[in-house]
Amino acid sequence: MLPINLLKTSTFRLAVLYLGLFAASAILLLAYVYWNTAGFLVRQTDEAVQAEITGLAEQYAQGGLPLLVHTVIQRSRDPGESLYLVLDPAGQVLAGNLDVRPNVQPGADGWMDFVYSRRALNGVELKAARARAFVLAEGFYLLVGRDVQERREIESLITNALVWAIALTLMLGLIGGLFMSRNMLARVDEINKSSQDIMGGDLSRRLPIAGTGDELDQLGRNLNAMLDQIEALMIGMRQVTDNVAHDLRSPLNRMRNRLEVTLLQDMSPDEYRNVLERTIGEADHLLTTFNALLMIARAEAGSLRESMTNVDASAIARDAAELYEPVAEESGFAIRVSVKDGLFVRGNRELLSQVLTNLIDNAIKHGKPDNIETSVPTIDVAVDLDAEGRVEMSVADHGPGIPAHQYARVLERFVRLEESRNTPGSGLGLSLASAVVRLHGGRITFSDNAPGLKVKLSLPLVSA
Ligand SMILES: Nc1ncnc2c1ncn2[C@@H]1O[C@H](COP(=O)(O)OP(=O)(O)OP(=O)(O)O)[C@@H](O)[C@H]1O
Ligand SMILES: [Mg+2]
Repeated sequence: MLPINLLKTSTFRLAVLYLGLFAASAILLLAYVYWNTAGFLVRQTDEAVQAEITGLAEQYAQGGLPLLVHTVIQRSRDPGESLYLVLDPAGQVLAGNLDVRPNVQPGADGWMDFVYSRRALNGVELKAARARAFVLAEGFYLLVGRDVQERREIESLITNALVWAIALTLMLGLIGGLFMSRNMLARVDEINKSSQDIMGGDLSRRLPIAGTGDELDQLGRNLNAMLDQIEALMIGMRQVTDNVAHDLRSPLNRMRNRLEVTLLQDMSPDEYRNVLERTIGEADHLLTTFNALLMIARAEAGSLRESMTNVDASAIARDAAELYEPVAEESGFAIRVSVKDGLFVRGNRELLSQVLTNLIDNAIKHGKPDNIETSVPTIDVAVDLDAEGRVEMSVADHGPGIPAHQYARVLERFVRLEESRNTPGSGLGLSLASAVVRLHGGRITFSDNAPGLKVKLSLPLVSA
């Protein structure tokens, strides 16, 4: 008993369809073979008999019945496979090697197929024959034919062989089809099992790849790539949720506790105002943090990629520098701008501006030179083409810099180095920069500005 789903596989149906076509062509081919072998034997016999009839008709035309009877008697002495019979009007045998007139009616084509008996060593033998009969003038009867016993045997041998050939072809095809479908089914089963595991929550599970490079493998590879993407997004999501839970809960709690304590005390309106102002400040900080987190999440999700246009990186850098000029001056910094004009990248203007301002903000906040005498408090904002022909945007300062082993860590969310504990901020500026640069197909790298930090963003160049 075959499992029902094996018969339902598309491979099996395809195999059966193919088998049908194959069987039809095989039958056509074998019919051709039959026509050329068994069919040929039939035609050959008929032609031989016909030739003999023509010969006897000539004799009859020349010498009438006596010559015909004479010829038949002669030929009957050594008849080979030929059969003859001449009867007088009364039905008496005049000549020939048949004993009796066959008791069958000729077919539409004038031929008779019949069985005659012949004495043999071990009794009487029945043999197949084929003949034509004529009624001559005055009621004489002439039959000319052939013994076709041997021919019939060959014919049935050939027919048997052909029938077996067809049956074997069908059987082998069917077995092959089943075998192929079972292989296919086994692989599909494996894929199904893995997908069920994945749906059950094992997101790290992947579909099996047989390594044959066929379309099932290709499908598996694509689905696996999709799963990788989904898993990365899920991890990102979980990280954001964790971050929100850990890093936003405590400031909110603090805020709430302070408000509660304030309510419990009797205070002057001015004191209340003071507390409320501080609370608003903290709420603002929380909002900024939230916005930054959301922006990072949006950049990481990659959905902004559709809204990208060709934007002028040179203009973005210049605008950001100009925007921060007053703030920088207030903190004692000078911003030097060295921007090559007309360098375009494909991207989102808002996000790129935000990244640039984050970097300049960092330079102002964390990039104060330790020793004002040897290092001037300048910030260099530059845009140029790098050796690989990519657009390089950089912001450099002359402050304490970041130790090389911390380069990767400062890109993580909420990471702030020990030295920055007493500056305002939430440790999301560089995380956003990293997410945005990745969204734009670029890289962010740090280097030592000796002294200070140089942050480089390299992005693919596009034409305006
Ligand atoms: N130019 C710099 N020089 C020295 N240290 C820096 C510089 N830029 C960043 N850092 C270090 O990297 C940390 C992470 O920077 P990031 O911009 O992510 O956060 P932040 O500036 O502290 O806070 P936010 O940007 O969210 O206001 C900083 O806290 C600081 O310790
Ligand atoms: Mg920052």
